[in-house]
Amino acid sequence: MNIEIRYHSKTGHMQKMAEAVSSVLGVEAKTLDKPLSNDVDVLLLGSAVYAAGIDGKVKDFIASLDPAQVKNVICFSSCAILESSYAQVKKLLETRGIHVDTREFHCRGQFTMLHRGHPNDTDIANLKAFVQELHLN
Ligand SMILES: Cc1cc2nc3c(=O)[nH]c(=O)nc-3n(C[C@H](O)[C@H](O)[C@H](O)COP(=O)(O)O)c2cc1C
Repeated sequence: MNIEIRYHSKTGHMQKMAEAVSSVLGVEAKTLDKPLSNDVDVLLLGSAVYAAGIDGKVKDFIASLDPAQVKNVICFSSCAILESSYAQVKKLLETRGIHVDTREFHCRGQFTMLHRGHPNDTDIANLKAFVQELHLN
């Protein structure tokens, strides 16, 4: 199974989370500027929310995907106020005709005084358990 991990991170939370995903799967976590290899069975896509929306780099990345190249996307995210970036990412991917898994992971990410220390050790442990339960390897 060909698995790829991509993430976008402004303040380091999604990078930390992508590295946790990487440690479970043994697959390198890469930023969005790194192109996908051909024929991806599962793309794990990490994103956060800024000013109530996903970053333009995430939108551009989704717009650049070849729907024939990606079979399934599993989303993971952190944000401080919104429930998750899942709904926004899912909508864009599905508009492109790319399948989005119903399984997603979300935790809180610190923003100013909100959710200090998140994603914390418990969040990372929960994320690793989520990835293990996907049974991708
Ligand atoms: C400039 C900025 C704006 C943000 N705006 C929102 C927001 O509107 N809603 C929300 O839920 N979280 C917001 N957040 C919180 C981030 O989604 C959260 O901190 C996330 O974990 C950041 O991930 P990153 O460190 O990988 O960039 C904002 C964070 C920053 C830095």
